[in-house]
Amino acid sequence: MIRAGKSKQSTPKRKALGQSRLIFGKQREAKPFQCLECSLSYSPSVIQDIAAHAKHHDLHLCGKRWSPKWGEVVQSFSRSIPVKHRRNNNDCGPVTGAKEICTGAGTDQIVQISKTRSSEVKATLEIMHIVNEELQAPHDENHFWIGDSGINNNTQRRSLKSSDGSAFAYIRGGRAVGIITVEILNEVDERGRWMICDSAHVVPGVRPPVKLGISRIWVCKKERGGHIATRLLEAARHHTISGLEIAKWEMAWSQPSESGGKLAKSYNSVNHPKSGNVLIPCYI
Ligand SMILES: CC(C)(COP(=O)(O)OP(=O)(O)OC[C@H]1O[C@@H](n2cnc3c(N)ncnc32)[C@H](O)[C@@H]1OP(=O)(O)O)[C@@H](O)C(=O)NCCC(=O)NCCS
Ligand SMILES: [Zn+2]
Repeated sequence: MIRAGKSKQSTPKRKALGQSRLIFGKQREAKPFQCLECSLSYSPSVIQDIAAHAKHHDLHLCGKRWSPKWGEVVQSFSRSIPVKHRRNNNDCGPVTGAKEICTGAGTDQIVQISKTRSSEVKATLEIMHIVNEELQAPHDENHFWIGDSGINNNTQRRSLKSSDGSAFAYIRGGRAVGIITVEILNEVDERGRWMICDSAHVVPGVRPPVKLGISRIWVCKKERGGHIATRLLEAARHHTISGLEIAKWEMAWSQPSESGGKLAKSYNSVNHPKSGNVLIPCYI
């Protein structure tokens, strides 16, 4: 059995009646195992589980292999020196089937996902699956960047056409190593709020007129700490609505995670001089 995310102690269940299963040799002792790096729980004695874990582990740590045909390039960054990871320096190996990526010199790109090209939408949805598992967030919040012409997937609530938006991927070494999805917010909906950074409380009665909602932002484990998320935020700020200047504070967060809160504080928190509080723009 495969399960992602934090392992919970399962409550003992009554033995189900059914056909007996033959257990050979070491299989008897095999228990679900949780990988400490990608958090996937799986059975090391089941061949399909091993293969599924290798795929999940590789994507979680190193990003998704990305075709150069996918996405419109909106920004490029050249790297003349190998990347140093300050906060996290995980290696991709040693997991069967997982291959290391080269993060040496080269050109990084940020690409915007086109709603009309199903192959890049599908590849992005694969990443979103891992992102939502890590954040323990709902899997059906993609309608605004997929639009009406995305792939045929019943789990996407495309009928909820409340807003429009976009998805951007950060490409390094032939892989998408980071992703951001943003939705365009309608001012009349008054979804903006200020969150006090220290207490996570919302300031009552104030509705900042935010323009973009950061639905998801994620960087694969191995590439964290290299300002990829900051670059993705900047790309989304400049390229989601062409011709409109969006201030940093007009980009709002949706229930930031612990590391998301730190990123928000660094990227677009504001000081409120009267109270001395640091505030983060959020939306509901
Ligand atoms: C949050 C996340 C996207 C940050 O990606 P990243 O590329 O490492 O972020 P950046 O390097 O651009 O961070 C910019 C600044 O934000 C702050 N910051 C970001 N993540 C931090 C962390 N885990 N710990 C401390 N500070 C952090 C730092 O001030 C950092 O600047 P510095 O490294 O020069 O000090 C990444 O950790 C991630 O994918 N986490 C899992 C998914 C998630 O929680 N997403 C947020 C949902 S709201
Ligand atoms: Zn793993």
